[in-house]
Amino acid sequence: MSGWGGGYVTDIAYMTGYYRHQSPSVMALACLLGGVASPMPGHDDPVSYLELGCGQGFGALILAASNPHWTVTAIDFNPAHVAAARAWAAQAGLDNVSFLEADLSTLAEDSASSQVPAADFVSMHGVWTWVPPAVQSGIVRLLRSKVKPGGAVHVSYNSLPAWGSALGMQRMVRDCGRRLGTRSDRQAEEGVKLVKELQAADAVQLKRSLLATSLINRIGIMPAPYLAHEYMHDSFAPCFHADVAGAFADAKLEWVGSVTLIENFPELTLTPEQRAVAQRFDDPLLSELMKDMCLERSLRQDVFVRGVRRMNPAVRDAALMDVWLALNISPEEMPYEAEMPAGRAALNRGFYGPITEAMAMGPRRVGDLLALPNLEGRRDNPAELIGILVGLDLAEPAARPGAEPTPQALRFNRVTLANLRRTENLGRQIAAASYALGTGAPCTLFDLYVVERVEAGDSEASIDDWMRDIGGNLDEEGRGKLREVFTKAFHVRLAILRAQGVF
Ligand SMILES: C[S@@+](CC[C@H](N)C(=O)[O-])C[C@H]1O[C@@H](n2cnc3c(N)ncnc32)[C@H](O)[C@@H]1O
Repeated sequence: MSGWGGGYVTDIAYMTGYYRHQSPSVMALACLLGGVASPMPGHDDPVSYLELGCGQGFGALILAASNPHWTVTAIDFNPAHVAAARAWAAQAGLDNVSFLEADLSTLAEDSASSQVPAADFVSMHGVWTWVPPAVQSGIVRLLRSKVKPGGAVHVSYNSLPAWGSALGMQRMVRDCGRRLGTRSDRQAEEGVKLVKELQAADAVQLKRSLLATSLINRIGIMPAPYLAHEYMHDSFAPCFHADVAGAFADAKLEWVGSVTLIENFPELTLTPEQRAVAQRFDDPLLSELMKDMCLERSLRQDVFVRGVRRMNPAVRDAALMDVWLALNISPEEMPYEAEMPAGRAALNRGFYGPITEAMAMGPRRVGDLLALPNLEGRRDNPAELIGILVGLDLAEPAARPGAEPTPQALRFNRVTLANLRRTENLGRQIAAASYALGTGAPCTLFDLYVVERVEAGDSEASIDDWMRDIGGNLDEEGRGKLREVFTKAFHVRLAILRAQGVF
């Protein structure tokens, strides 16, 4: 562990990743669902977006590539991260994103903070509960000086009480791993092995905790850089929602909702009995505490606003009716049942069927979808339609529906494929830049590969060439699966990505 990291892992770079919760349009939807004004970034709005602890900057790069007139600023104290992010921006020719190497514990008081513009939207993913208190308070001071009135801030963090039962597991991975390995990723791997051994030997604290058990089961498929950045820092302090809200209050930020959009709907999140208890309080902090007592999820994704303006329900619904949505799936893939925190929910086929059919050709306005002639069900609940479609990752908000792809976004997607195809599992979910969406279009590297080949003039008859190019070393079974992936990408995924304006 290096001295300058202050106990944070610095000897191995974090992996690239895209998290749609960091997107301003999703933050704005969370605000609207909570009845709080937060202007959905419009067609040409000169949005200023700031990311704190940006890692290698993939999320910031996608937002910059998707919105050429935004100003995107992203900060990280690891020079290897900043160098990688700057190189990527240069390769893609993006001139609206800057990466600043700075320590968040002191940046607010540093002259370098003059390089950070006032922000409409701020996001920090995977930072808050992994850094020491001095960094947290530095973040709050920076937010106090940089968030514009009306601006929104997204923060993700490991939350209590859910994380409580797995704290011993993290402590063991870290403290034992440090004795057994050298670099942080090796230490994490060694610590994980030991935890698994002790779990197999019936250690009560590992077997009784649902979270520890599910984390240990998933740990094997997590990349080592993820494990190092999740478990190996000196500081690892999951916290209660009210304590984050208390800290952010010093920056005049007020909690408004969750970017995990489903969580803004008590009827989808809590059982009737749980709601009956939770509704005894009209204090949102207490309601959230009760929600956290009832849910298993251990990572919260909150949105705060500086200067909350409550909307009356009619104004809020009018704003929601004006949201455009683009489908992430084909209509045939629409699930008519979904697992919600409050239990399994049926989604009315007579309602969602015509809606997804209407969205197959491209983004549609929520108000127009609810006015379709053949719908069975309520037409006056835009919140629920958005909550279900966006909340279940079935659709993305679209800032510029129907707009042609820009050279920046096309270049960025080509660079993404070139940079990641050498090192990544090609099936991993990432996202493509899209000017039409103004946010990432969810896809895999396989999808990007097929997009690039089809743009270069290939057809379905080229699948054999793609197999030779990508699947050279695979056995018979692997080749069969790869052919299926390419066939689906060609017949299903291309149409979706075209409708989302990716190419
Ligand atoms: C888990 S990573 C998350 C990266 C990115 N947000 C993502 O989700 O892919 C946390 C990031 O915070 C950065 N970080 C940690 N402490 C910091 C500090 N004091 N100042 C600036 N950046 C810091 C780390 O270098 C790392 O890139």
